[in-house]
Amino acid sequence: MKYDFDEIIDRRNTDSAKWDAVGLRFGNENAWPMWVADTDFRSPRPVLEALEARVRHGVFGYTYSGPAYNQSLAAWMRERHGWAPDETWVSLAPGVLAGLVMCLEAFTEPGDGVLLQTPVYYPFFSVIRDNGRRMVKSDLGFAAGRYEMDLGDLEDRVRSENVKALILCSPHNPIGRAWSREELTRLGEICLEYGVFVLSDEIHSDLVYPPLRHVPFASISDEFAQNSMTAVSTSKTFNLPALQDAAIIIPDPERRRKYEDLLKARKMAMRNVLGMAASEAAWRHGRDYLDQLLEYLKGNLEFAKAFLAERAPEIRVVEPEATYLVWLDCRALDLDHRALSDFMTHQAEVALDPGHWFGEPGRGFMRMNIGCPRSTLARGLERLAKAVAGRR
Ligand SMILES: Cc1ncc(COP(=O)(O)O)c(C=O)c1O
Repeated sequence: MKYDFDEIIDRRNTDSAKWDAVGLRFGNENAWPMWVADTDFRSPRPVLEALEARVRHGVFGYTYSGPAYNQSLAAWMRERHGWAPDETWVSLAPGVLAGLVMCLEAFTEPGDGVLLQTPVYYPFFSVIRDNGRRMVKSDLGFAAGRYEMDLGDLEDRVRSENVKALILCSPHNPIGRAWSREELTRLGEICLEYGVFVLSDEIHSDLVYPPLRHVPFASISDEFAQNSMTAVSTSKTFNLPALQDAAIIIPDPERRRKYEDLLKARKMAMRNVLGMAASEAAWRHGRDYLDQLLEYLKGNLEFAKAFLAERAPEIRVVEPEATYLVWLDCRALDLDHRALSDFMTHQAEVALDPGHWFGEPGRGFMRMNIGCPRSTLARGLERLAKAVAGRR
């Protein structure tokens, strides 16, 4: 079936964080919302039908997550990413972040170092800090418009700062890299050598732009699989984050048992029935939607690049290999990080995630969400270009 990603769906007054909480978050309710990472697209038809059928059934008793869910996940991953988790490895969480928090709690001790490669998705900071672990940062290298892992720096920090776990963001939000097999292999070897457990957040894995392909960390070798957990979800791809369903894949049986014990202790060992129905339908029937979505997003990306190059060349797009999040290098505007976010919110009146939220190396950058109809994107870009022109 053909999806119409140009359709405007009014999300105001639907309890949408992106649209209804913009005033609260940015102090300007007229700022055009291009921030939090969801899309403005309707979920695929088969997902809506599965939800409708479940609602029509009308009974929402306690759920049991049977083999059908894990089978649909494994089939999807085998087809899209060339690697399938064994069905017994799959556990649950009410979201990827919740899964990461519980893994840190289950597999590390208070005070242990947990490494992040910055700039990175900022809620990871609180996943570590608010749960009594110690944050260790290794900045990504940035040269000629491209980010790379700085594995020399990372190894030094792992060696010297008692690092016990690493949160890998793969693909990486906000800079949009789809990490190569070589980078991941070297990273995984360092982690094995120094006893660092890898928490691989692969929530954006479906959103790698062809011909590039996502490389699941655990697919690289059995040793890597045993020394890692992988978190995936239908939430980004099919715009389902509010259904709070995630798959937490833990190949090592000992660690899996610890994780499941913790789930039970927290009384969280049950999937939400609607989240489960939606994820299963998405994995079974979402192929068409994803292929068309990627094409549409690529079109949005090309549109934004051309628009900014012509109308606001001070802002440079860091070309993403994955995700609908675009990292904008705004350093040529010559504003410090606070002035830059004020400029965006109050002069341009666009709500973008300020780069410094993602860590110090994000200063001077902004993150723009292009997961929206092209006309919505154009409206935000127009505001941006006018404000930038006003500074010349
Ligand atoms: C890398 C990354 N991990 C996790 C999340 C949040 O996942 P969840 O809503 O399932 O906790 C996001 C959302 O933007 C993300 O970009």
